[in-house]
Formats: sequence, structure tokens, C-alpha cells
Amino acid sequence: MAESNDTTAPETTARGTTDTTPDAGGAAPRDAKRSERDAILAVKDLTVAFGSNVVLDKLTLDVYRGEILGFVGASGTGKSVLMRTVLRLLPRQSGSIRILGAEYDKVSEEERVALDTRLGVLFQHGALFSALTVKENIQVPMREYLDLSQEMMDDLAMLKIALVGLKPEAADRYPSELSGGMIKRAALARALALDPDLVFLDEPTSGLDPIGAAEFDDLIAKLRDTLGLTVYMVTHDLDSLFSVCDRIAVLGKKRVLVEGTIDDMLAFDDPWVQSYFRGKRARSIVRDETPGEARQ
Ligand SMILES: Nc1ncnc2c1ncn2[C@@H]1O[C@H](COP(=O)(O)OP(=O)(O)OP(=O)(O)O)[C@@H](O)[C@H]1O
Ligand SMILES: [Mg+2]
Repeated sequence: MAESNDTTAPETTARGTTDTTPDAGGAAPRDAKRSERDAILAVKDLTVAFGSNVVLDKLTLDVYRGEILGFVGASGTGKSVLMRTVLRLLPRQSGSIRILGAEYDKVSEEERVALDTRLGVLFQHGALFSALTVKENIQVPMREYLDLSQEMMDDLAMLKIALVGLKPEAADRYPSELSGGMIKRAALARALALDPDLVFLDEPTSGLDPIGAAEFDDLIAKLRDTLGLTVYMVTHDLDSLFSVCDRIAVLGKKRVLVEGTIDDMLAFDDPWVQSYFRGKRARSIVRDETPGEARQ
């Protein structure tokens, strides 16, 4: 997967799907008993350092098939580093990463490409190529991984545009002609270009107004339900965490401090977790979501 330093270009291309790698299958029922077998992504004892700056120290995290996992942590704790390491954009010192049933390090180059095509990515910065229209942006991963006629790619791009709730007219617009919310949707359409099993979203609702953010959350939930997607979502957005995430993992002290439901977060004895989930902003969300029974 190529990465660009060009600020006018996305950090990488979005990726899609084939079934040539192990563990192809649909979403598990939401209440299915979880076991290691269900983990679509299993990170174990992962250590990532830049020189003497150890960012992640023996971090372990599982993401289960069909879930929306919200990943939170203070700014600069390594949320994006973890995502980029899982995507092989950054090297690691030690630890294992099993994704879609395969050990990244142990598969052939051909299998690795096939695996890559089953992952979709929406990066925190640089969502779209500025010199390409929305339709052309969505077709970048198709050109990279598939051998389709232009006509077929056009049809597919229009399908993705409709899927993320953009109007057909958006297809021929350039990113500079779109609102922030439309850019996020277009970037999501590109992440979904090849029907991935697992999508990584790094702060997808940042910069959106609360209504736009709530609509984006609804879209993510709808896509999970209809497409059987698994969603790994880095977010600072408390509304997203309370409304669409099935499970939350908190990054702190260079590892996953706690993972579980909102109630698990509320019960976890750590000053940062407590102030994050029980702070002023969180309290108003808890009140809004559970009228008459604020959880504190
Ligand atoms: N390529 C890199 N080279 C050196 N250090 C890096 C690199 N990428 C990230 N870092 C460092 O790793 C740490 C974690 O950065 P990261 O971007 O993962 O934070 P984050 O949790 O995503 O923060 P935010 O919520 O602000 O996006 C920071 O100290 C950052 O400076
Ligand atoms: Mg980040």
C-alpha cells in the first residue's frame, strides 16, 4: 500500500475485497459468544517505538466480527500509530498482528495484497486526492486492485456514492467543491470501494457539526447492519461512543487500559477514564440517552 507525503493526496488508497484469503465470512450475530476465532483483528503484545519514544508497549486488543469498536485515548497516546501499524504503514518492534485469520508477517506477498483488498481505511488527515473528482477518488482502489472496464467502475462508483448518502451530482465534483460532511462521506465511499470486511475510521466525525456527526454515525451503523461490516473507529466524539459503538477500548499508559461497554467504562477506576466518561459533556449525553436514570 503506497503512502504519499503530498498534502493534496490521501495518505493511502482505500481498499476492498476478495475472498482468496482465510476466514472469509459474514458478520456474526451481535450476541454470539465471542472467542478468539471470532476476532477479525487480534493484536498481541504489540510494541511500537520511534527511537527512544516507546508509544505502544505490549498492547493487546481484539476486534470482533460485526462489531463497531470505538477506540479512545488522550491526544498523542498512539491511536493513529496503532491503526497505521496494523495497516503496515509503520514498523513495529515486537508483537503479533492477526487480521482476517492470517498472520500478516507469515503470508506471501500475493496473499498480503488479497488481505489488503479486504480492508477499508478513512484516515484522520488527507481524506481525498484534491486533483481528482469524487468518482475518480472512489475508483483509485478499483484501478489499483481490480481489472474492470471504465463503464463498470463508473457504475460501481455511483453505487458507492448512493450508499453513503451523497447525491449523484457529487460524483463529478472536486473535493474543494464539497462541504466537510460531504468529504467525509466521499472518503467513506472510497474506503468501501471494494466491499471490505473491516474498515478503519480515524476520527470520522471530527469537524462535523453535531447533526452531521449524528447522521454519519447512523450511516456507519446502517452499513454495519446491511453489509456486515466490522468497524474500528478512532474517535473523540462522545456521542458516537454512546450511540453507535458496541464496545469501547481506551488507550492509556501505552496499552489498552480497559475495554468493554459504556458501563464498563463508567465503572473503571482510572482518573482519565472517569473524567472522560463522567465529565460534564459525557453527563449530558448519559442524561439525554437514559431519561430519568442518569448513570451516576
Ligand atoms: N512517524 C512518526 N515518527 C515519529 N513519531 C511519531 C510518528 N507518528 C507518530 N509519532 C508519535 O507517536 C505519538 C502518538 O501519535 P498518534 O498520532 O498516534 O496520536 P493520537 O493518539 O492519534 O493523537 P490524536 O488524538 O491527537 O490524533 C506522538 O508522540 C507522535 O509524535
Ligand atoms: Mg490520531
